Amino acid sequence: MNLPKFVEMIEVCPRDGFQNIHDLIPFDTKVAVIKQLATAGYQRIEICSFVSPKAIPQMADAVEVVASTRDVLKSNGVKTAALVPNARGVETAVACGIDELTYVISVSEKHNMANVKRTPEESMEEFKALIGRYGDKVRFRLSLATALGCPFGEEIRTERVLEMAKFGFELGCEEVMIADTVGMANPVRVSSLMTALVHAYGPDKFIMHLHDTRGLALANTLAAMQLGLHKFESAVGGLGGCPFAPGAAGNVASEDVLNMLTEMGVETGVSADALNEAVMLIREGVHAPIVSHMAGLYKKSTCV
Ligand code: COA
Ligand code: ZN
Repeated sequence: MNLPKFVEMIEVCPRDGFQNIHDLIPFDTKVAVIKQLATAGYQRIEICSFVSPKAIPQMADAVEVVASTRDVLKSNGVKTAALVPNARGVETAVACGIDELTYVISVSEKHNMANVKRTPEESMEEFKALIGRYGDKVRFRLSLATALGCPFGEEIRTERVLEMAKFGFELGCEEVMIADTVGMANPVRVSSLMTALVHAYGPDKFIMHLHDTRGLALANTLAAMQLGLHKFESAVGGLGGCPFAPGAAGNVASEDVLNMLTEMGVETGVSADALNEAVMLIREGVHAPIVSHMAGLYKKSTCV
């Protein structure tokens, strides 16, 4: 098989994992999980979003969460990422010292309207303005949501994804994220879309963000890896989902990705024991089912 030697795993549980959980997670639990993840060997962790608390109540304490975890993340050499939807979010993120900002635009018009109340064109205009205003202060990456399937039935054309990726690169983004927001992709679809993107820009420019709604996220990961893609987001415990995308379920679980990569001899620098500890903190403090294969095994072994 054609596999990269090293894959960068990017952890998104504190943002994507937590945002969809109905019951407010205690502040101390959020901080404890992030501090634990900081020791796991990640290079980058998306620790929160700076969004309207009406849209995502779970992120209302993001500034305080960042303040309480910044030192541990820094001392472990972890770069921080946060999702932002508008200028207010960017200003708060810059003031908090976040290293990288994820600006999300949906390829699907209906999902973009549901998620951020703008058409994709309006979001693109806003992103351009944000880069003009803040591009010298912080690194931006463009996240193309629903790039592999739309929950509202819109057709997602490869040409449109290419066009939106080009827009991001022309604005100066070093990376564009390709998100399967609702977990609708399959390995053939991943392969055909990513072949076109990799052909145009090379594999180093893309981050894959895959959800496991239909159990295909690891297969999709493998399909992408065979094209040389080597940056993958995941969430410990398999938590996650967009509250504005009907049917969205968890991100692919970090511990499952790590297990697959390790078993295949691909290096990540991430520690399975450290993820196990994070899973235990989530079990204790977060009201959400843990959806991962490896967490089930951890559970058995810790019960012995
Ligand atoms: N941080 C904190 N508060 C914010 C904010 C931000 N970045 N952006 C807006 N707000 C507040 C406003 O102050 C306003 O509060 P008020 O009603 O008390 O005055 C309220 O949120 C609504 O603001 P408005 O500018 O009218 O936004 P909107 O209602 O048109 O919503 C978004 C647009 C983009 C701000 C909102 O839909 C959002 O935050 N979406 C995020 C979606 C998301 O994270 N999805 C999951 C990830 S893909
Ligand atoms: Zn997601």
